[in-house]
Amino acid sequence: MAEKEVLLKVDNITKRFGGIVAVDHVSCTVRKGEVVSIIGPNGAGKTTVFNMLTGVYEVDEGEIIFNGNPIHNKDPKEIVAAGISRTFQNIRLFSDLRVIENVLIGAHIKTKYNFFQSVFRTKKFREEEDKKTAEAIQLLKSIGLDYRRDDYASNLPYGEQRKLEITRAIATGAQLILLDEPAAGMNPQESAELMEFINKLKDQGYTILMIEHDMSVVMNVSDRIYVIDHGKPIAEGLPEEIANNPKVIEAYLGGVQNDAEDQ
Ligand SMILES: Nc1ncnc2c1ncn2[C@@H]1O[C@H](COP(=O)(O)OP(=O)(O)OP(=O)(O)O)[C@@H](O)[C@H]1O
Ligand SMILES: [Mg+2]
Repeated sequence: MAEKEVLLKVDNITKRFGGIVAVDHVSCTVRKGEVVSIIGPNGAGKTTVFNMLTGVYEVDEGEIIFNGNPIHNKDPKEIVAAGISRTFQNIRLFSDLRVIENVLIGAHIKTKYNFFQSVFRTKKFREEEDKKTAEAIQLLKSIGLDYRRDDYASNLPYGEQRKLEITRAIATGAQLILLDEPAAGMNPQESAELMEFINKLKDQGYTILMIEHDMSVVMNVSDRIYVIDHGKPIAEGLPEEIANNPKVIEAYLGGVQNDAEDQ
């Protein structure tokens, strides 16, 4: 089978905060339609990688190529417009807005109205609004959240709030969705549902780069996995390769073993 087209190529990116090298020459590749994960212990530099991908932080060294174009050190808005959207480690929703309104906020990021059209609510503007609403409903249906359409985001159970945040990221029309610990704070049943949800998105052709600590989610949804520890890349490979990699086991269990020795 021919290799899928490369969507994202991260080449040796580095980020320093004062004396700390938070991300130290990290590289990764994501092809269209893949689910790729970045894992590593707390403080490994995972979220910092996402913050460079989304233009929140400038890169000190290295390159980020998206769809063949360099995007490192671009403005966050330009990066969303280029087709990268994200969710956050701590859920960020408009909790006093309805589910459909949260999705429409995502959809509006890609709409370019001129001032006249929006202030005077021209026919073109209203048609565009109706189209956006229809698309948002369709998206909610495909994701299985349509029955919550008119509920306030704050009234959704935790697992569905996470799903809604992912849906809003998708509604921007992004080609690449970045998920920062989507299973954080979930109970085992919610994580299992999330796993199913991510696999469904993959079947629908979405491309996902995910940071996650829940190993059952990581091992069940990822095509490939990158591991970083103290900012440095330590391993990459297929889920079964990563699960059996001594360096990875050491990075995760080192602390636990030391604790055991201390007792
Ligand atoms: N804005 C910042 N200023 C200073 N140091 C920072 C900043 N952002 C991150 N760091 C540091 O960079 C390192 C990596 O942090 P990062 O949040 O990327 O880790 P992480 O792998 O996402 O961890 P976790 O699994 O706990 O979310 C940490 O030592 C952190 O304290
Ligand atoms: Mg993080």
